[in-house]
Amino acid sequence: MVKRSRVLGCGTYLPANVVTNQDLERRVDTTDEWIVQRTGIKSRHLAADGELTSDLAIGAATRALDHAGIPASSIDCIVLATTTPDNTFPATATKVQAALGTLGFAMDIQAVCAGFVYALSVADNMIRGGQARRALVIGAETFSRILDWNDRTTCVLFGDGAGAVVLEGYDGKGDSSDRGVLSTHLHSDGTQYDLLYVDGGPSSTQTVGHVRMHGQEIFRHAVTKLSGVVEEALAANGLESTDIDWMVPHQANRRIIDGLARKMKLPPEKVVLTVDRHGNTSAASIPLAFGEAVADGRIKRGDLVLMEAIGGGLTWGSALIRW
Ligand code: ACO
Repeated sequence: MVKRSRVLGCGTYLPANVVTNQDLERRVDTTDEWIVQRTGIKSRHLAADGELTSDLAIGAATRALDHAGIPASSIDCIVLATTTPDNTFPATATKVQAALGTLGFAMDIQAVCAGFVYALSVADNMIRGGQARRALVIGAETFSRILDWNDRTTCVLFGDGAGAVVLEGYDGKGDSSDRGVLSTHLHSDGTQYDLLYVDGGPSSTQTVGHVRMHGQEIFRHAVTKLSGVVEEALAANGLESTDIDWMVPHQANRRIIDGLARKMKLPPEKVVLTVDRHGNTSAASIPLAFGEAVADGRIKRGDLVLMEAIGGGLTWGSALIRW
């Protein structure tokens, strides 16, 4: 027998305010055609004034607990992935803990767009190591707050939102037929720190800063690094890409997602896409897409789900889950 974390439930939360490419045409020098052709994005949700990352996280986590059918008081660990915390400290996860009434401990994880995969890995290891029994894993962002709304090369790409899953420890058989998290694989390469960053921070400028990105270079790294970490996940579990029922990728750019699916020989109908309606919601994009595909019945109990993401750092990783 092997200790595993199974996924008991999931939930999503999007701010009500929808901003289309046509809305952005009125704000910066861009066109719907350019944005759709280069990224696949048509609209995104943006948080209202006063709507914080913790509000989105609490919304998604509440729905995930309802879906799992368990009380908040049975959760003893929150791992919240975010690049846009309410405050520099304390961790936004502690605010979520207070609002929900969960027990144990709560922490934030910072791995930008790879944040959800990192958070899932941390929570899974906490459960398998015996330090937690039930965990809430959340990806939540108000990315719009760190965008330079005069920089058309970045401001059209991102959106706000949150998604959450509930994990619970159980004794599995130890093979790939087990439900839950089968594996997580994480990587980073700090030599690429300057490819995607914010030009501020508490220690460097005492400001929050705005997103700066070398888009083409990120693009160049993305498909190679993602296909590497996906192959690593499949090999570790003795699986082939044909065994995958659903790919739930980080939703940065339609072209990156299509490129990876082609490389893996995965048909487009096995790929969950939300980038057209959500834009890039960084750490929230995977749990948002996963929650949507579970809610509409595409992902069914027992399906094998591949998650993968790359983000600033560079950081990247994959997770294989049997729902
Ligand atoms: N509207 C209109 N024109 C634009 C816009 C815009 N919003 N943005 C840039 N352009 C122009 C540029 O100024 C440039 O014009 P020029 O040729 O006259 O100089 C032209 O479009 C081409 O610009 P490129 O940057 O070369 O465009 P590219 O085809 O590379 O597409 C993009 C840019 C979409 C950002 C692409 O490089 C990409 O998707 N990269 C990956 C980015 C990514 O995935 N980031 C998320 C990583 S995850 C995370 O951690 C946040």
